[in-house]
Amino acid sequence: DKEEDLKPRPPVVTVMGHVDHGKTSLLDAIRHTGVASGEAGGITQHIGASVVDINGRQITFIDTPGHEAFTAMRARGAQVTDVIVLVVAADDGVMPQTIEAINHAKAANVPIVVAVNKIDKPGAQPDRVRQELVEHGVIPEEWGGSNMFVNVSAKQKLGIDDLLETIILQADVLELKANPDALASGFVIEANLDKGRGPVATVLVQRGTLKPGDSVVAGESYGRVRALIDPRGNHAKQATPSDPVEILGLSSVPTAGDEFRVFEDERDARKLAEERAMRARLKEQQTKSH
Ligand code: GTP
Ligand code: NA
Ligand code: MG
Repeated sequence: DKEEDLKPRPPVVTVMGHVDHGKTSLLDAIRHTGVASGEAGGITQHIGASVVDINGRQITFIDTPGHEAFTAMRARGAQVTDVIVLVVAADDGVMPQTIEAINHAKAANVPIVVAVNKIDKPGAQPDRVRQELVEHGVIPEEWGGSNMFVNVSAKQKLGIDDLLETIILQADVLELKANPDALASGFVIEANLDKGRGPVATVLVQRGTLKPGDSVVAGESYGRVRALIDPRGNHAKQATPSDPVEILGLSSVPTAGDEFRVFEDERDARKLAEERAMRARLKEQQTKSH
């Protein structure tokens, strides 16, 4: 894209951290909703995308599961994100998935904002969390480092505005831009087969504008976009860079992490998807015969 085609776009922020440190609760506090309490066992099983408006400015949030079984998905989460909010429970400190999230952030060269959560708890030691993180190269600005830290309580809704301001500050430094006037492309964040709606893929648009009727390829899946559903569950007329949106109308269920692309011609979309499927089958046969 030429420089003059680039327009400012909202930040995509992924919330990471150890299991049960309060990622979903923090997003609930930000969105004023109650997802965490409605989850089976209180454990996030999938990557959820949502959009928050702060004084007319959008932030796209991606929630991730903290359980170690989801390492691969978290790794993908880091590839689509501009900023990582690392949630560390002040009563528990740095844990294995905290370190894993730091490693993903460093590998993807994504800045980390630390949310030291659960400061309402009697055993909370927010300064100890800072000391532990320094050992892993995450150093608070107030100690001469480059990471912004905010003390929060998702439960008591303390420090939430401060955290949002800090995220916007961090995002502004990045001067995020994309070309909205192009055929859309981006990544599949999650996908599943819905009983009533068929294959449903949540995608993050990174470039261009996605519209109903577009011919799209996602991994080995293709189709005409029958409908776009925004994170609030409403039909959307379009999705622009940094928007997460559900796509209905795909031929099959793509895989999280697959790239998606819109084609001018539906036949080109189908051809690419079929070629990919063919190649995948050949590869599978080769692996079996060895
Ligand atoms: P996974 O998705 O399973 O990795 O967990 P999570 O990081 O999303 O944590 P979740 O929001 O499910 O919260 C885990 C537990 O911590 C729940 O019982 C929350 O009520 C509790 N919790 C979250 N934030 C706070 C907080 O600020 N203070 C206190 N006291 N409890 C909290
Ligand atoms: Na949990
Ligand atoms: Mg969660």
